Amino acid sequence: MKRGKFITLEGIDGAGKSTQLEKIAAFLRSKGLNAMVTREPGGTPLGEQLRTLLLDKTTVMCPETEALLMFAVRREHLDKVIMPALEQGKWIISDRFTDASFAYQGGGRGLDNEKLVFLEQWIHGSIQPDLTLYFDVPVELSQQRLYQLNVADRFEKEREDFFQRVRAAYLERVKAFPERIQYIDASQPLAAVHVVVEEILENLLVHE
Ligand code: TYD
Repeated sequence: MKRGKFITLEGIDGAGKSTQLEKIAAFLRSKGLNAMVTREPGGTPLGEQLRTLLLDKTTVMCPETEALLMFAVRREHLDKVIMPALEQGKWIISDRFTDASFAYQGGGRGLDNEKLVFLEQWIHGSIQPDLTLYFDVPVELSQQRLYQLNVADRFEKEREDFFQRVRAAYLERVKAFPERIQYIDASQPLAAVHVVVEEILENLLVHE
């Protein structure tokens, strides 16, 4: 059985990546692929319970605890969902993965990059997404979108400077991993963003 592909979506809160998630799955299914959607933090029963704690506005924890929990969720997710599905030939599309830990816990919270590299090595050694779509928007625009949605979890209620640091860390990752991470200008209308996404996916399918 041919191994499936592992695609991750990244971006600051309000970048519109969740809207693209189902569209991407539908596009891949229209090509005859068995595509499955998942998310982090979450993806397993334990991971979803930890997500509730991680996103709850009343939870207080230090940045190290936050990073360790994100990687704990990830280990379960890889073990119980991602790896078995890929081996069965399924394509996995995950709403966030390790780049989010570098951006939020590293950039946003200021944790040392080295510590995150260590956790990444420990938890998923040589396993990396085949493709990461990074949806970029200026922080001001993402904040307007979040404001319209009128919901804010523990991360979304952070101040603008937090998201500026998160975005800067994402942009560093785009520069550091140009083969894996595709930059997408997500300040365009949703339909235009999806056209760009489909071109990238078509290209991945051609080189399959
Ligand atoms: P998100 O994926 O944006 O879900 P929703 O669209 O329902 O708000 O929310 C998950 C939050 O978790 C997001 O604010 C980023 C944060 N996060 C981290 O801080 N580190 C991580 O490693 C991951 C995976 C997510």
